[in-house]
Amino acid sequence: MAKPAAKTKAKATPSVASHLLAWYDRHARRLPWRARPGELSDPYAVWLSEIMLQQTTVAAVGPYFQRFLARWPTVAALAAAPIDDVMREWAGLGYYSRARNLHACAVAVAGEHGGTFPDTEEGLRALPGIGPYTAAAIAAIAFGRKATVIDGNVDRVVTRLFKIETPLPASKPEIRAAAETLTPDARAGDFAQAMMDLGATICTPKRPSCGRCPLETMCAARAAGIEEALPKRAPKKERPVRHGACFFVSRADGALLLRKRAAKGLLGGMMEVPTTPWGAETGDDALLAHAPLKAKWKKRPGLVEHTFTHFHLILKVFTAEASAKEAARAEGVWIAEEDVGGEALPSLMRKVVEHAMLDAGPLFGKLK
Ligand code: ADE
Repeated sequence: MAKPAAKTKAKATPSVASHLLAWYDRHARRLPWRARPGELSDPYAVWLSEIMLQQTTVAAVGPYFQRFLARWPTVAALAAAPIDDVMREWAGLGYYSRARNLHACAVAVAGEHGGTFPDTEEGLRALPGIGPYTAAAIAAIAFGRKATVIDGNVDRVVTRLFKIETPLPASKPEIRAAAETLTPDARAGDFAQAMMDLGATICTPKRPSCGRCPLETMCAARAAGIEEALPKRAPKKERPVRHGACFFVSRADGALLLRKRAAKGLLGGMMEVPTTPWGAETGDDALLAHAPLKAKWKKRPGLVEHTFTHFHLILKVFTAEASAKEAARAEGVWIAEEDVGGEALPSLMRKVVEHAMLDAGPLFGKLK
């Protein structure tokens, strides 16, 4: 007969979660959408902030979040707002489909859920613009559900803790499985935000501050001395370059011609300075064939450049003054110069306006 296993006096090994939560209680970043450690946050504020924080930094989101919340304090107020107002308020944050989905989601919550967000990951995922990440974040942070929230910071922390040497993105399933073993039953929202804070302030991509890390003694990458080499990443493909031109045209009264872009696609529903399609580099004559009206177009010296996720864009800018007849037949809207800054102009188009006006003075610096 096998001997009963000797009772070992197992040393209590405090878990990653308890170490991290104790650290969070003392070091949580104060962020405008955040409750204090141990408290749940308003679901509307969590949802709004999480949508804004996708692909955008905490610093950039702060003022937008405050403006949205001041203007639309409840999900019902946001649902009742015209979509164009929402796009205008979003202008400059980028990834504009987020703003369209934000509004659609507000309409769904106000219309189909009586103004209350569903409190499960599954229920949240059924809403427009809410994917697995955002559903987990809201479920954990606003409702205290045990959900595992994985963003770029968490990827890095988990990869290092578990010394996952498979490069990203192939390592994602491994990271998720490892992260799920860490999520505590209680305070999952604080835990998620603690992981994000740790990644943002200590477990940074370069020169992590391991000496200040509450998880240093549990970190496999640190033990092996390879923390800075993780996570490994598959080599990125080079971004293709596209070319085109914008046509900046004023009327006799000083108004400027803008157009609304198609609702779907890149910068969908936002305003633009009329532009050519963007593609292979072509000569000026081919570009001018796309001008919105007949005029004496002058090419401004220099170029406007902007990097999108999937390509880099290089634009020439042509300027002109429109005759009354041409102005009347042009497609688009004429906007008084002083009102252009309040339009839903994405950052790219703000660069175009500023480039076109570089030595014209008055508008420059007025764009918000
Ligand atoms: N990035 C995305 N969501 C966040 C949050 N709730 N706190 C800090 N950074 C974040």
